[in-house]
Amino acid sequence: MRILVTGAGGYIGSILVPMLLEEGYEVIALDRFFFGREKLPQENSQLKILEEDIRFFEKDILEDVDAIIDLAALSNDPTGELDPVKTWSINYLGRFRVATLAKLMGVKRYIFPSSCSVYGFQDEIVDETSDTNPLTTYAKANLKAEKDILTLADNNFTVVILRQATVYGFSPRMRFDLAINGMVKGFFKNGKIPILRDGTQWRPFVHVKDTSKAMILALEAPSEKVNKEIFNVGSDDQNYQIFDLAKRVAEAIGIPFEYEWYGLPDHRSYRVSFKKIKKVLGFEPEYNAEKGAVEVWEALKSGKLDPDDPKTITVEWYKYLLKEGVMV
Ligand SMILES: NC(=O)c1ccc[n+]([C@@H]2O[C@H](COP(=O)([O-])OP(=O)(O)OC[C@H]3O[C@@H](n4cnc5c(N)ncnc54)[C@H](O)[C@@H]3O)[C@@H](O)[C@H]2O)c1
Repeated sequence: MRILVTGAGGYIGSILVPMLLEEGYEVIALDRFFFGREKLPQENSQLKILEEDIRFFEKDILEDVDAIIDLAALSNDPTGELDPVKTWSINYLGRFRVATLAKLMGVKRYIFPSSCSVYGFQDEIVDETSDTNPLTTYAKANLKAEKDILTLADNNFTVVILRQATVYGFSPRMRFDLAINGMVKGFFKNGKIPILRDGTQWRPFVHVKDTSKAMILALEAPSEKVNKEIFNVGSDDQNYQIFDLAKRVAEAIGIPFEYEWYGLPDHRSYRVSFKKIKKVLGFEPEYNAEKGAVEVWEALKSGKLDPDDPKTITVEWYKYLLKEGVMV
């Protein structure tokens, strides 16, 4: 079975692609490689690497592709605000284009790794049937893409939406702009865990290998179970308030709980139910925040990760690329 992964060189993609190869899939890894392509394995008979843009690639690329996991995007809220028009053109129009071409070219399944950020601010625990409340360009583009791509689904074209919790854990294309990863790096560099104000906001979390595992479950499940369905990806016990999460991170890696505040008060806060993915797909995460924090800590201590690598703060790297005149 041949799987096309867009955004394959990214934080999630560079974990997902080796997992797919391990499972015996043929993979086409498509990406603009804004963060470099050296994080992926070398091309071989099972893996083809294409430097292409989801907005412009030729549709022939999709010949003989069985399924698509569409990860390419400007991947967080601050990056989404750098140039909202570009964000819409990639995160909404680009994905809608990929899904439309996929259907046209006879691809059987399209998996859209969206985000729980579509819930925005909520007082109650939300599930897939709850009202959404996207607060940023990034979240609004995700939601519009979800809605429009779902309309393409039919008996020959399975569409699955995965609303991922905030991801954590080691990846070769590291992101220290994600909460748990950033907390560990902050302590590693400055002896203090950075906490986004005011720390009472709720957020669900999932490890990068676990969210990749969810994508593979969505790929392999019978169509009748997943077609036109939305699944939150995470687990009920990994909904945390940010201040409590920082305490857990400190405890897990055995450091004194020293912290510093940053940013303006975060207006996003949501607690999410993950019962559906557990029930329908049997999804159980292997990691929790503590285990993920220790993994990142060990990778920093051993030198496997460079805390000062400028590519690890997504918004700063895109600002640099735009300044350098790279066509984003
Ligand atoms: N990491 C998280 O916490 C998280 C949570 C929820 C949802 N998501 C979503 O999962 C997906 C992957 O996230 P990630 O953390 O791996 O992000 P990432 O930024 O590490 O990876 C995204 C990849 O997409 C590529 N890309 C960007 N624009 C492109 C274009 N026009 N054409 C081709 N490639 C392009 C980039 O080069 C990059 O390699 C994104 O859609 C993101 O919004 C991530």
